[in-house]
Amino acid sequence: MKSTAQNIPPKESSRLLPRHLGIIMDGNGRWAQKRGLPRSMGHRAGAANFKKMIRYCNSIGIECLTMYAFSTENWKRPEDEVGALMVLFKQYLKDAIKEFLKENVQVRFIGDTSVFSQGLRELIRKNEEIGRSKTGMILNIAMNYGGRLELVRATRMLAQKVKDQELSPGEITEEMLSAHLYTAGQPDVDLIIRPSGEHRISNFLLWQSAYAEYIVMDILWPDFTPEDLEHALDEYANRNRRFGGV
Ligand code: IPE
Ligand code: IPE
Ligand code: MG
Repeated sequence: MKSTAQNIPPKESSRLLPRHLGIIMDGNGRWAQKRGLPRSMGHRAGAANFKKMIRYCNSIGIECLTMYAFSTENWKRPEDEVGALMVLFKQYLKDAIKEFLKENVQVRFIGDTSVFSQGLRELIRKNEEIGRSKTGMILNIAMNYGGRLELVRATRMLAQKVKDQELSPGEITEEMLSAHLYTAGQPDVDLIIRPSGEHRISNFLLWQSAYAEYIVMDILWPDFTPEDLEHALDEYANRNRRFGGV
C-alpha cells in the first residue's frame, strides 16, 4: 500500500510533533568530496533524499515542512556548481510533477523565483498548480530564499500601504508583518534541523524562527534518513519550550 498521511499512523500518537518543521539540507558537497566525486553528484544524492524525506514527513502527519534548497547567498558559488544546481532543479521539478500528482502535498515555493530561467519558472508554476488542489502537508521549497530578503520584501509591501494611506506606521503589528512573509497564514517554524554539523542559521526563516527549537546533527544531508529524523523528533518532543515564560 502506498504511504500516505492517511494510512500510516504516527510512531507514537501521543508524541508532540512540530506543526512546522524546517530542514536546512546541508552537506551535499562534503558528501561528494568524501567519495572523491564532483560536488554536483552530492547535490544529486541530496535531491533523491529530498524526495524520500518529504514523503516520510507527510506520512507521519507534519502539517508544514520548509526545505531550504538554495539561498540568496548560494549564487556566490563557482559558476559550474550553480549551473549544475539549476539543471538539477529542472530535472527534479519535472519529475516532481508526477510525484506530487500522487502525494497529497500542497507545494509552494518561497524565495525570489523571478530570477530563474523561464523553463524553471514554468516548472515551479506547474508544481504549485498541482499543489493547489491538495489538502495534505504544506511543503515550502525555499529557492533563492533569504530571511533578510523576505523581511525587506514585507517591509516594502507595508511601506507601500502606508504611502497609499491604507495604513499608518503606528498600526503595523507583528501579526501584520508575519502576514506579509512568504509563509503568511502558516504557523511559525517549531523545529529547525540542520544536518552536516554546522551551528548556524544561514539566513533561514529569520523572523519565523524566533522561538524555534534548533537541532544540529552530524550527518550529511544525502545520508540523513527517516530514523535520523525520528531521533530529532524524539528530542524535540522532550524539550521544554517556554517562550519567555516560566
Ligand atoms: C547544501 O549542500 C546544498 C546547497 C546549499 C545548494 P552544500 O553544497 O552546502 O554542501 P557542503 O556544505 O559544501 O558540504
Ligand atoms: C545553507 O547552506 C543553504 C542551504 C542548505 C540551501 P550553506 O552551505 O549555503 O550555508 P553556509 O555557507 O555553510 O553558511
Ligand atoms: Mg553547505
